[in-house]
Amino acid sequence: MSDRLARDGGTPVRSTPFPSAMDPQGRTFGPAEAEALARVIDSARLSSNGGTEVAALEREFGALYGTPHAVACTSGTAALHLAVGAVDPAPGDEIITTPVTDFGTVIPILAQNAVPVFADVDPLTGILDPASVEACISERTRAIIAVHLMGAPAPVDDLAAIARRHGLILIEDCAQAYLTELPDGSYAGTRGHIGCFSLQQYKHVTCGDGGLAISGDGQLAQRMRLFADKGWPRDTGERTHVSFGMNYRMTELQAAVARVQLTKLAGVVARRRAAAGRLVAGLQKLEGLHLPNELDRHAVWLFPVVLDPDVAGGTNTEYAEALEAEGIPVSAGYLSRPVYRYPVLSRKRLYGGAGFPFTCPPARRDWQYDDGLCPNAEELIDRTWLIVHWNEAYSDADVDDMATAFRRVHSALRSTRPAV
Ligand SMILES: Cc1ncc(COP(=O)(O)O)c(C=O)c1O
Repeated sequence: MSDRLARDGGTPVRSTPFPSAMDPQGRTFGPAEAEALARVIDSARLSSNGGTEVAALEREFGALYGTPHAVACTSGTAALHLAVGAVDPAPGDEIITTPVTDFGTVIPILAQNAVPVFADVDPLTGILDPASVEACISERTRAIIAVHLMGAPAPVDDLAAIARRHGLILIEDCAQAYLTELPDGSYAGTRGHIGCFSLQQYKHVTCGDGGLAISGDGQLAQRMRLFADKGWPRDTGERTHVSFGMNYRMTELQAAVARVQLTKLAGVVARRRAAAGRLVAGLQKLEGLHLPNELDRHAVWLFPVVLDPDVAGGTNTEYAEALEAEGIPVSAGYLSRPVYRYPVLSRKRLYGGAGFPFTCPPARRDWQYDDGLCPNAEELIDRTWLIVHWNEAYSDADVDDMATAFRRVHSALRSTRPAV
């Protein structure tokens, strides 16, 4: 095969698609999910009220994570909303989080009329930097939401210590991090007060859309359960509403599929780790690429590479263009911009023209979400982060194609770049 890049007219390393979360071959569905759905239909009970599947899913997920409480709901965003609802912020209170995440991490803060305060991230992992978090704390801070991004563990021991010192609730967003392990071997999602998971189509296990929130704290769990069900205390038998909430109830159909998927989770994570290990080995010698490490604790939702553009010969955009032309599923930067630069936040237009929750009632200060707020996040997105899309169905040959394409692009970009 010639070394000419496909971008420049060479033959692409790969001409067939890789398995993806939108194809049967890139998902783990089988007859057991179909049988579970049929079982629910035959029972005629599709709602969790009176059904058995959602309750069983909550028990099984709680047992997997060793937590006494698990609350199922309609999405990962909903799970985070249950958590923020349980924190019960007053309008204008502050919740610190990361600017490098799905918007679903931030929506619940805004929906509860609290202010998202963005701390910067580690330049090599893109995960919240505890020192930056601590610098953001004010008398109005109520909670921290840490994200175990792409399946790597966030430094939740340090964040939990900060939360304890300042009397804050620590929420762990584990939407991308099933079975991610902390240094002591416990699972991400169990160190903070609440852990939140997503069952959306692209996640390790899925029922299309769905969410789960776990907690070791009975009071927080009870508040989350009420929040998911209109504030309705079903166990009293009374038709009354004791707190504010939504209808975020998962259906029996979703839960039946999720229960089967859960039995496949360990295998999914193991296959993702093994394939990632093979790619790390294949890329090890390429200078200027920082690769994911400690893969035995990583859930490898995505495979992030941090480039040193001066050494690697190109920025993330240059690498992504060249690798895509070779047929490799990659993207530059993970997000198009940090969350605070999304128009919805930078224009501060959420509730009509009221400027709420930033201005009314008076927030602590005039919040601005300008460029430069979190320089490490901006550098990762703009120049250094190259994301390889990941799937548990990747074969050795798939991964070897990726490594071949990376080597070809690395060599070509370095040879055209003036030495520094
Ligand atoms: C880190 C993170 N948080 C929250 C969410 C929201 O989950 P959902 O899409 O299920 O609402 C996602 C989903 O992509 C996510 O990746």
